Amino acid sequence: MPESRTTTVTADSVAAGLEDARARTHRLTEIDEPELLAQHDPLMSPLVWDLAHIGQQEDLWLLRGGNAACQGLLSAKVEQLYDAFEHPRAERVTLPLLGPAEARSYIADVRGRVLDGLERRTDEDLFPFAMVEQHEQQHVETMLATHQLRSGAPLLGSGASLPSGRPVPRDSVLVPAGPFELGVDAGTEPASLDNERPAHTVEMPAYRIGRVPVTNGEWAEFVAAGGYDDPQWWSERGWAHRVEAGLERPKFWAPDGSRRRFGLVEEVPADEPVQHVCFFEAEAYAAWAGARLPTEQEWEKACAWDPALERRRRWPWGDSEWTPALANLGGEALRPAPVGAYAAGASAYGVEQMMGDVWEWTSSDFHPWPGFVPMLYADYSAPFFGGDYKVLRGGAWSVGGASVRPSFRNWDHPVRRQIFCGLRLAWDVDGERETAVAAR
Ligand SMILES: [Fe+2]
Repeated sequence: MPESRTTTVTADSVAAGLEDARARTHRLTEIDEPELLAQHDPLMSPLVWDLAHIGQQEDLWLLRGGNAACQGLLSAKVEQLYDAFEHPRAERVTLPLLGPAEARSYIADVRGRVLDGLERRTDEDLFPFAMVEQHEQQHVETMLATHQLRSGAPLLGSGASLPSGRPVPRDSVLVPAGPFELGVDAGTEPASLDNERPAHTVEMPAYRIGRVPVTNGEWAEFVAAGGYDDPQWWSERGWAHRVEAGLERPKFWAPDGSRRRFGLVEEVPADEPVQHVCFFEAEAYAAWAGARLPTEQEWEKACAWDPALERRRRWPWGDSEWTPALANLGGEALRPAPVGAYAAGASAYGVEQMMGDVWEWTSSDFHPWPGFVPMLYADYSAPFFGGDYKVLRGGAWSVGGASVRPSFRNWDHPVRRQIFCGLRLAWDVDGERETAVAAR
């Protein structure tokens, strides 16, 4: 198959990316000390932990080449407080953490040394910088989830404006049977992480996939139709969780049709993709709608494959860089955009809003691609393969623009819904009809 266009990582692009991530970190942590020190939810760390952990990882990977035995800028005793594997989130509030001022000065010190070292690197040697930039962007997203879980008056405002939606058919798009290239290589996507590699050809049967994500309005119909009360739509495990957790509607929705978003109470917008539903809810909704969730292979083909050119596109819309007119990424909006907002961002198959807006649950468990090789941060993916996780794709509005790609794989427990997650439907195709578009 022809190669897709390559991208490059340069010292300038890495420095700009690190700066962008840091600006976002500051925006979420320049708040009153009690807010930084508090644990806003048992699922989350205090924000001051994320703040220093960002610096600790940067210190480890970029100043010490990953050698934890080598002394960093913190004492070993303090540094181990920021080991995510050692300390579960629920316990971190009890640790003798650095205070906000100490944490800020530590991460600034690390960053200054990193930027000094960057000047001496060659472009071939920049992957660790891209990895650390993505690590910080991922923690920014985690901190946004903490802000969303926090109760109290709004701290972040109501979010930047977004393009308006347009009337778009709520139908499905046919992806004909055939091979495609799943995953990427370092040569074409130098910032890709280990679990996205290597690129390999997979043969796929035909399927249909939703043109747009499932919306709040559609989800409200599921609620009104008693979808949460009828075990026939739920898997056995999903129903047990639904009963035990008392799920009745998406997280942050109230029975009166309002929702809480970053401290603001507002009417649930019908045309916005639904978010804050767990995998089990997504699976039940899909069954109720006469559909299923896509596999991650189906999701990636619909997003990235160009059937005319028989190669991958870098983004659904083509090879040009992301701009705010193409997808809702970057975190400023504080919410998904209404469906139909990004006609220009459609994939080759005509599927819209695959990047940004909401992470989309897939039916896939998290496994390595054949030929997987762990990266420098060897425990990023490998310890999670085969665990109780479902893969999510596409990134949400909350994701930094440079830290998601069509090949990017996120994973989480099937019960999680504090993340900015929603869904898109898929259908099997029987027979050989290869051109029609079916009504959902
Ligand atoms: Fe981390």
